[in-house]
Amino acid sequence: MAKSSAFSCTACGATHTRWSGRCEACGEWNSIVEEAPLSEGPKGRGLGARRGSAIVLGDLAADEPPPPRTLSGLAELDRVLGGGLVPASAILVGGDPGIGKSTLLLQAAARFAGAGLKTVYVTGEEARAQVRMRAERLGLRQAPVQLAAATSLRDILTTLETERPDLVIVDSIQTMWSDMIEAAPGSVSQVRAAAHELTSFAKRRGTSVILVGHVTKDGQIAGPRVVEHMVDCVLYFEGERGHQFRILRSVKNRFGPADEIGVFEMTGSGLAEVANPSALFLAGRGAPAPGSVVFAGVEGTRPLLVELQALVAPTPHAQPRRAVVGWDGARLAMILAVLEARCGIPFAGLDVYLNVAGGLRITEPAADLAVAAALLSAREDVAIPPETVVFGEISLSGALRPVGQTENRLKEAQKLGFTSAIVPSGGKPGGASGLSLTRMGDLVAFVGEVFGAG
Ligand code: TYD
Ligand code: MG
Repeated sequence: MAKSSAFSCTACGATHTRWSGRCEACGEWNSIVEEAPLSEGPKGRGLGARRGSAIVLGDLAADEPPPPRTLSGLAELDRVLGGGLVPASAILVGGDPGIGKSTLLLQAAARFAGAGLKTVYVTGEEARAQVRMRAERLGLRQAPVQLAAATSLRDILTTLETERPDLVIVDSIQTMWSDMIEAAPGSVSQVRAAAHELTSFAKRRGTSVILVGHVTKDGQIAGPRVVEHMVDCVLYFEGERGHQFRILRSVKNRFGPADEIGVFEMTGSGLAEVANPSALFLAGRGAPAPGSVVFAGVEGTRPLLVELQALVAPTPHAQPRRAVVGWDGARLAMILAVLEARCGIPFAGLDVYLNVAGGLRITEPAADLAVAAALLSAREDVAIPPETVVFGEISLSGALRPVGQTENRLKEAQKLGFTSAIVPSGGKPGGASGLSLTRMGDLVAFVGEVFGAG
């Protein structure tokens, strides 16, 4: 019987009938490998013909104790992990180069080691002396962390098998290489193999593994998406270069809620936790100015007040500019269109700039109304009262839709000294906060109320 071979792309998983240098499906170079043909059972009857061993079936209702967790004592990190580190879990921490991943993980390593976990930090990017210098700067030279500078996966796994640590940090997954694979370190197949070996080690030996991954220009963790599927938890460490704030965000977590954030500040001696981020994000706010609006947002379970700033000015160009920092450009275009179509307020011939102060990135549609308020305030040159927060989603019809966690947002606003809020009507009453609420059903009513109908 002729053996038919199949080829598949290690980056996107597409199958091909022939080998080629570049995957037509995803455009990745050198990612196509030959799949080993499926071995047929006796007389070609497939897998069912030969008996395997029985797997254990259990009642869904059976009691399973929750996994024991270890707290690092860094509350911002513990919350993002879903309440501490779970044994045998695999965690991927992604982020731009230079954002502070190595700093965060060295601090985390020291904390977990201090909490009693046998901790190993493997660096493939730096010399041991460099890591020691960083530890010195962070005041962690005495932390009981074992340090190694290595890139050979085989050597690392051999060592881990005998050392049996509770926690291994691998910085970074892109520098690891397996001698089983003939491709350069950092290539898709190497990254995938290294992640696979390390996560299976985690499951087999009950060791928690934290992998550091670099992020490409378009914001994906460099290497195949399959790495994200292999691990239990994917965290992104983000921030703007010029700002000292850093956000640790969980985008996937098998042991806790996703979308949770932790807020840190990069200081001369490492990352400091920020217990009250709203105060920090509002700290630089000056006198009330047109175009400035405070949005009462929520990230995960955490309320977060941020200032939105808009600038609207006549354009010297044929095509007016729309520039956004910290928010979605497509969403801005939508809000400009709704303002024009439903409220008759045109932005043609005007440049529009929108900025989220402090270097934060907002993804919530709940910011729609605050964005519209900032745009209108800038366009009309009328300041919104400074002790007011705004939130609500705008639909294409111009209606305002209620958003989740109203109570949580209002409580945070009150805590920070705000006295009133502009919110969509409908949804939860939210009266318990003590703020004076202005409820709006649609954008036209909002424009009339706040800007006196032009
Ligand atoms: P690093 O953790 O090396 O980033 P990554 O591993 O993500 O590439 O940190 C990079 C920056 O952080 C570096 O430019 C210096 C700065 N930094 C501080 O400001 N304070 C500190 O205490 C440390 C250790 C680093
Ligand atoms: Mg680093």
